[in-house]
Amino acid sequence: MSRPLVVDVHTHVYPPSYMAMLRARKTVPYIHDPASGEPRLIILSSDDDPSIPIDERGRPVDTSYSDINVKLSFMKQHGIDSSVISLANPWLDFLDPAEAQQWAERINNDLEETCAQNNKSTDPDNTLPLKGRSTLFAFATLPLSAPSPDIIVNEIKRLKTLPHIRGVIMGTSGLGNGLDDEKLGPVWAALEETQFLLFLHPHYGLPDEAFGGPEVTKRYGHVLPLALGFPLETTIAVTRMLLSRVFDKFPRLQILLAHSGGTLPFLAGRIESCIMHERKFVENGGDVPGPQRSIWEVLKTNIFLDAVVYGTAGLKAAVAAGEGTDRLMFGTDHPFFPPLNEGEKEWISVTTNYKAIDATFEGQQEAVAAVLGGNAARVLKLE
Ligand code: URA
Ligand code: ZN
Repeated sequence: MSRPLVVDVHTHVYPPSYMAMLRARKTVPYIHDPASGEPRLIILSSDDDPSIPIDERGRPVDTSYSDINVKLSFMKQHGIDSSVISLANPWLDFLDPAEAQQWAERINNDLEETCAQNNKSTDPDNTLPLKGRSTLFAFATLPLSAPSPDIIVNEIKRLKTLPHIRGVIMGTSGLGNGLDDEKLGPVWAALEETQFLLFLHPHYGLPDEAFGGPEVTKRYGHVLPLALGFPLETTIAVTRMLLSRVFDKFPRLQILLAHSGGTLPFLAGRIESCIMHERKFVENGGDVPGPQRSIWEVLKTNIFLDAVVYGTAGLKAAVAAGEGTDRLMFGTDHPFFPPLNEGEKEWISVTTNYKAIDATFEGQQEAVAAVLGGNAARVLKLE
């Protein structure tokens, strides 16, 4: 089927330098090389279960995680014209403070170089339209464990000089205390000033107790942490930003929420109603006002959602939350959720999302074009 411009805004890589760093570690996150078979990636704390033999822990990690040529083949296979690549979780969250800045610079330079080399190879003068060309752009990563927020701010400013960087990816822990931490103010200010898009992505999920304890979580593998833990983590993180008035203080901040905002579009009315009934919050022993801008206004002006939700109900909620199709962007979550059977070329995780978009916007060509690539190209200035 011929499609309009397709841009994948949710697609991850672990550059070879990051893979080497994970291989040198013995605690989460780490890569374990069994005597035979594929290396294993142990990144979620629930993966590192001592009752599971180490050779079977986590998930297999093949070249699709780090070899950009594998991603380019995947893009061709699925009709994707352009990908905005981002480091996968858990980014640099776990690094020793003294190492954070160096690693961020190294990873971000690697991402920039990968995009530059690739795009040059197909269009040395950078004049061709994006359609039909496999182009790469990137969301950079931040040295969030660095000893001072100044280091993070300086990296954001430096990123502005790298031509293929279009924003930053971040988890929900911030500087270690969540995204309602006042100390993040300078970081929000720098993102606002540079108008970089902040791609907010989950990693930590919910404690096992939320699902009935470790035995239950183990019984169902990755289903509970990935299907429910991830989306709720994102929802909680962005709600804490809202409650702490981040969007009042930084009204031009632009955020892209992973997995169609977790459950935010569905729960927005309930969140707003609870805020209204609570009236004010307690901070430093005194009363402080709640957010001044409504969640609906924030959804319409500060928040973009990816379309990685695998169904029409989720997509309809996402469109309703943003009051239109101009805030929704196609994504794949590659290289996670690979085909189920050996040798299969088509990724069911990707075709499910394509089908959900087609079914949700049936007969609305402009909406389909906006969601598949038009919105990303406009917002991220890709052309
Ligand atoms: N699992 C992860 O750990 N990260 C993703 O982005 C998707 C699935
Ligand atoms: Zn992802």
